[in-house]
Amino acid sequence: MSNKHLIDNQELEALKKVLESGHLFRHREEATECDSFEKEFSEFIGTSSSCLVNSGTNALVAALRALDIKEGDEVIVPAYTFFATISSVLTVGATPVVVNIGSEFLLELDSIKEAVTKKTKAIIPVHMDGRPCEIDKICDFAKKENLFVIEDCAQALGATYKGKRLGSFGDLGCFSFNMEKTITCGEGGAITTNDGALGLKLKLVSDHAFGLNPKYKKMFEGMETILGSSMRVSELSGAMLRVQLKKVDSIIEENKKRKEILAKKLGTQIVEGECCSTLYLRQDSLENSVALTKKLLDKGITAMPMSMRLAHNIWQWKDYLSFNKIDYIETMEKLMGTVRIEIDNRKSLEQIEIDAEYIFGTRFLFRNSDT
Ligand SMILES: Cc1ncc(COP(=O)(O)O)c(C=O)c1O
Repeated sequence: MSNKHLIDNQELEALKKVLESGHLFRHREEATECDSFEKEFSEFIGTSSSCLVNSGTNALVAALRALDIKEGDEVIVPAYTFFATISSVLTVGATPVVVNIGSEFLLELDSIKEAVTKKTKAIIPVHMDGRPCEIDKICDFAKKENLFVIEDCAQALGATYKGKRLGSFGDLGCFSFNMEKTITCGEGGAITTNDGALGLKLKLVSDHAFGLNPKYKKMFEGMETILGSSMRVSELSGAMLRVQLKKVDSIIEENKKRKEILAKKLGTQIVEGECCSTLYLRQDSLENSVALTKKLLDKGITAMPMSMRLAHNIWQWKDYLSFNKIDYIETMEKLMGTVRIEIDNRKSLEQIEIDAEYIFGTRFLFRNSDT
């Protein structure tokens, strides 16, 4: 999908300024665009610091590394997520323990409790499709059990739970700025935290220039030597994200106006605090989901049976994990019987009214139950 509607002169001006300055590298004597973005982003999310990296996947990898999660450790993840949540755990050598999703398509506390073993080190609740998990309950449980919580907020930048931004509840929050996310700089990611020591460790893990640059020597004084990586972004990304960040609330507001029209007509719910970037229509069977999807795509409405999003389908990850398909039949049944519609901010409210009428008329041809 093109991001043209999210980009205007402000981004062009910010990028031009960086290009004209000739300073593309983030490490300089004076404060840089990347430094400023990190400060502004943590203020926006409500954490004490943030760390800018080059993808949401690397945000997760850096988070796991900063928590010293490694071979022999288990990390609990949901069976409906983008593959990156799983691959990041595999990348650090740990074992993803994948659990079925609950009725709201999210990781739930009861299944987490069943999956915990002596080897469990962390839980990664994923706020999928912009909808918040019951993150307070998960964090309370994790605290009692001495487990870390890494919130995967890649699809939920700007969403809240009980009035607080997601990414401020867990030990760490991970974000993506790729082209499908609330805001974008093409590719990028960030990690948020309220833990000062973890905040510093993230810098070292994600960018060896922090550890080796004399400018930062004082900042890391007394800390162990950590082998860093190169997940750094350029000043172009920092500058563009600073502009984009100012747009988050209005982007979500525009999504919400559109989702309200659809939800009212279709009798579906809006979850408190969600990004309103998607709408689920439960169709009961894959056959019904496919039939409805065909009709919607014909009319230019972006929709897909949830099980057909291959990078989000646990059965497709079999080469990387060992499991029996039957273990995840519950998740697959939910995903097969549900059509996911993308809320398209490029469409006028009038067009969304027309879409809502069309979906309403069409879904009853195939629909058996309500969301
Ligand atoms: C839930 C989730 N986690 C992690 C990622 C990884 O982000 P990136 O594509 O920026 O690596 C994504 C990206 O789509 C995602 O949807």
